[in-house]
Amino acid sequence: MNFQTKTLDWAQAANLSVDALLVLVPEKARVPSSAKDPLSQMARQALAAGDLSAAAKTLSAYRLAGVKAPRVVFAFVSDVSAAVLRQAVASAMAAIKQPGVKHLGVVTSLMGKPELAALQPIMLALGDATYSYTETKPSAKARELNKVTLGLSHAPAAQLAFEQAWATVRGVELAKEWANRPGNHATPSCLAEVAKALGRPAGFSTEVLGPKEVAKLGMGAFMAVAQGSAEPLRFIVLRYNGAARTQAPVVLVGKGITFDTGGISIKPAGEMDEMKFDMGGAASVLGVFEALAHSRPKLNVVGLIPSCENMPDGLAVKPGDVVTSMSGQTIEVLNTDAEGRLILCDALSYAKRFKPHSVIDVATLTGACVIALGAVRSGLFSGDDALAQAISQAGERSHDLCWRMPLDDAYAEGLKSNFADMGNIAGRAAGSITAAKFLQKFTADMRWAHLDIAGTAWRSGAAKGSTGRPVPLLHQYLLDVASGQAKLA
Ligand code: BES
Ligand code: MN
Ligand code: ZN
Repeated sequence: MNFQTKTLDWAQAANLSVDALLVLVPEKARVPSSAKDPLSQMARQALAAGDLSAAAKTLSAYRLAGVKAPRVVFAFVSDVSAAVLRQAVASAMAAIKQPGVKHLGVVTSLMGKPELAALQPIMLALGDATYSYTETKPSAKARELNKVTLGLSHAPAAQLAFEQAWATVRGVELAKEWANRPGNHATPSCLAEVAKALGRPAGFSTEVLGPKEVAKLGMGAFMAVAQGSAEPLRFIVLRYNGAARTQAPVVLVGKGITFDTGGISIKPAGEMDEMKFDMGGAASVLGVFEALAHSRPKLNVVGLIPSCENMPDGLAVKPGDVVTSMSGQTIEVLNTDAEGRLILCDALSYAKRFKPHSVIDVATLTGACVIALGAVRSGLFSGDDALAQAISQAGERSHDLCWRMPLDDAYAEGLKSNFADMGNIAGRAAGSITAAKFLQKFTADMRWAHLDIAGTAWRSGAAKGSTGRPVPLLHQYLLDVASGQAKLA
């Protein structure tokens, strides 16, 4: 998707040569009665008649006199909050997405000052509405609308926000695309190739470790998950250097299970296809690097992606097997379906060598988190108040929400094992928290947070597909760290 900005008022917007115009119309007061241009006149009349209101949110016009664009859709915005803007753009796009509409003009210039903060939600909603998955569906229509001109009241003032928002949109799109691809088209080796391809033009380095190197590092927990699969595991290390080499990097760790059958503790068949999305954490880390390649903030970031399949097999890890993690701690694998924490714990141990500023792992980790928070907010877990606050705020600022969950030590009781330093599961109760407590055992001496995105990374049902979350949150956090907005005491 190609975006550009232009300083435009409504009168100038009427002269824009585009296939369609989307006019965001704020509440009455902001459409001045003096404005005589065709867009203002129609909007004013529609508002007065109640044909554009909280109840009648969009209004379409065709070949409006004095307007160059053949199609015009007005969308009512009761306020300029991200939720309202995204909804307004989404409903308007349902009318706009017609064959032949390749170039869209979006008129925001009556929204006044909040225009800047409104850019990202508008651009994300446009990206969402026009995204089309075609990789394994040749009959699907490819994206036709691929050019958007954003009309702003003062484009130069919005330049930085515009570039950051566009970088986020690109990152979300990359995350979505790879998470959507089925397990046989998005293997661990595929993800490694994506990471390499991302790094090359952007000038950051990508290192890919295979089974031999991972064995040498002693990642016994990660290897145990991979051993039942014919697909070789990959451990992907991405490095973005935007600051002096001496500056401690932020480390992002993404769960990259390209398919989770559950292993020997096999899952029921219903909806098991959705476990192709179990690399949503990895996809979001790749997406963040795509965003960084365009936003180029002044900080260092390391991305770590442990990636493999979780399969049942004659060689697969069995319930009761005890494995030794890279940290030296032993783990009794009581349930092979609790595999995410097994691959993440070794990646967290690996993260220590970077002496990180902070570490955030991102994982479609537990069904329990879906029960707790649904599809609205990701679960946030951290023992560090300042880090938790910085991440929560990044979520609010980017409208990619999360909610902090508790981490009392009492929740770790159930992880005790008679045969190893810990088991990999506790009881059914508080499942997302006990998973986080397990991970926490591998994060000593690091400022660490964990995001459980099991409920937010993809949608089920008719609109089944990846959301690209939490790329907006993570990218925002990194921009906040770079600009000094995120202060960790
Ligand atoms: N990838 C799943 C978590 C998951 C399940 C995400 C359903 C989204 C929807 C994870 O590997 C898993 O299987 N977790 C188990 C843990 C349990 C065995 C302690 C779960 O949540 O059931
Ligand atoms: Mn599992
Ligand atoms: Zn899983």
